[in-house]
Amino acid sequence: MGKYVIAGNWKMNKTPAEAVELIEAIKPLVKDATCDVVVGVPFVDLPAALEAVKGSKIGVAAQNCHWEKSGAYTGEISAEMLKAMEVGYVILGHSERRTYFGDTDVTVQKRMRAALDAGLTVILCVGEYLEQREQGITGEIVAMQTKVALGGVSEEELARVIIAYEPVWAIGTGRTATAEQANEVCAQIRDVIAGLYNAEAAKAVTIQYGGSMNAANAAELLAQSDVDGGLIGGASLKPADFATIVAAAK
Ligand code: 13P
Repeated sequence: MGKYVIAGNWKMNKTPAEAVELIEAIKPLVKDATCDVVVGVPFVDLPAALEAVKGSKIGVAAQNCHWEKSGAYTGEISAEMLKAMEVGYVILGHSERRTYFGDTDVTVQKRMRAALDAGLTVILCVGEYLEQREQGITGEIVAMQTKVALGGVSEEELARVIIAYEPVWAIGTGRTATAEQANEVCAQIRDVIAGLYNAEAAKAVTIQYGGSMNAANAAELLAQSDVDGGLIGGASLKPADFATIVAAAK
């Protein structure tokens, strides 16, 4: 299966000074990590975070990017700008972007194109609403989101795509998917990749679970056959909890 990646999504939390403090606290705790470790910080924290992670194995992610290189897009940040700063990763299609800021499968695809062209590694978020799960269409929803976002992405480029399965009902609710539910959907996503590309690509792709993953439940979730990591919100702001999750990813 894919290489394990544990990524924190700090969402709209931490000033630059607080970001440095948090990274300094995390650094010694994850120095022996056997997985990749990433922190997804607000745009304004990127310079401080990139400086703070120097000398560690921690990567830095932005939480979104625009699809145009530059232009009249007030308030937006381009993938090219992230590339110029030497940011390694960008989170795209997070459910909070889809729900509150109008992101759609099509705009996620455009952002994906720009991010890959800029050399970034993308953490692509997919996941169903509770009503969709109750309707029994989770598989179709995540397949559609995955297929549209990966439209035009070559097999070579896929090596720079991580997929995060984040059921919307589990995000920030304390209600985690069971290990079986998480594994089932991650396996479905892997099948989608096998269909779009091939079995080898499906085996190699990293598929994370996200949604109320914490220090107590991470080991069970990460032990599942098709779960290759986690995208962590709340618990990523607590150094000891985040480190426990990182240690559980083997
Ligand atoms: P929580 O871990 O706070 O539920 O957030 C998950 C998430 O949205 C990560 O992107």
